[in-house]
Amino acid sequence: MSGAVITGWGTALPEKVVTNAEFEARLDTTDEWIVERTGIRERRFGGTTSSLAVEAGAAAITKAGLSPSDIDLLVLSTTTPDKTVPATSSTVHAQLGCRGAAFDLNAACAGYVYAMVAADAMLNAGIGFERALVIGSDTLSAITDMEDRSTAVLFADGAGAAVLERRDGAAPLILASDLGLDGSLLPILYCDHGGFMKMEGREVFRRAVRATVDSTAKVLAEANVAASDIALFVPHQANQRIIDAMVQRLGIPAERSALVLEKTGNTSSASIPLALADAADAGRLSDGDLILFSGFGAGMTWASAVVRWGQ
Ligand code: ACO
Repeated sequence: MSGAVITGWGTALPEKVVTNAEFEARLDTTDEWIVERTGIRERRFGGTTSSLAVEAGAAAITKAGLSPSDIDLLVLSTTTPDKTVPATSSTVHAQLGCRGAAFDLNAACAGYVYAMVAADAMLNAGIGFERALVIGSDTLSAITDMEDRSTAVLFADGAGAAVLERRDGAAPLILASDLGLDGSLLPILYCDHGGFMKMEGREVFRRAVRATVDSTAKVLAEANVAASDIALFVPHQANQRIIDAMVQRLGIPAERSALVLEKTGNTSSASIPLALADAADAGRLSDGDLILFSGFGAGMTWASAVVRWGQ
């Protein structure tokens, strides 16, 4: 029997901080509206998906006490690839100096949980992979219409990463997972090639709450754990009100949420690993703690997982 362990994590945020006041100065919006309706106070714009991914990936590898050449599987979750061809993971693989396989995965803002589940399964499949680097990196500012107040204030740029190592005899890393989507909901959130994000915000909000509550309740039941057993809840950071609705319906104490939204905005694939790294760096995780991950995004996709932290 083999399992896996998260041994390192890292993040990258562009230097340019954009506050709500900057939108207030040029769009028909206010800091008060943005904070009250979303929970976001500032976000970061800049960099490329590969440059942010390389920075976060390098930090995670260092934290794990490894060298890039120890990594034999790189999974990059992104909705904003540098190029159409090749995959952005090729650039990241080359710049970091990893070995083995690399591929991009696009499941929008649920992508990081999809990527963790895929990497963990590949490590445990006995097909030769030992150490995976799972990165979420997105530069949503590049596909956001900065004149559209309903999306400009939400989306931003960043990256987060984690190293997963296969361990013989270790307990499973992922106790239960649920990955899914409803492709008929494509029209409520999409971006055409060369275009900007189009979103029916209220409908996305409604669907997101329903899908994520159902999905997280399902993995809690499958893992045979109660909401009160969850030490850390790591939700996709899209809107504080969505997170509030989730913790209330699931019965998770609100203070157990990992939150970076206020300072990062919605960074899509990066939001979950950014929040995880923030909590881990703050010493909020101990060996054996159970973490509940929950993502949702365009598609509409959703993904939940119960993960055991540490050895
Ligand atoms: N400032 C001021 N007013 C605004 C702004 C703004 N920045 N944006 C929208 N409004 C206005 C609207 O035009 C509307 O005005 P109207 O009533 O005159 O038509 C009013 O505010 C209310 O609009 P709603 O859309 O109903 O506002 P709501 O409370 O739903 O908040 C929001 C909007 C924040 C977008 C919310 O619906 C939301 O967060 N939805 C989910 C979005 C999300 O999670 N997206 C990411 C998905 S993940 C991915 O794949 C990228």
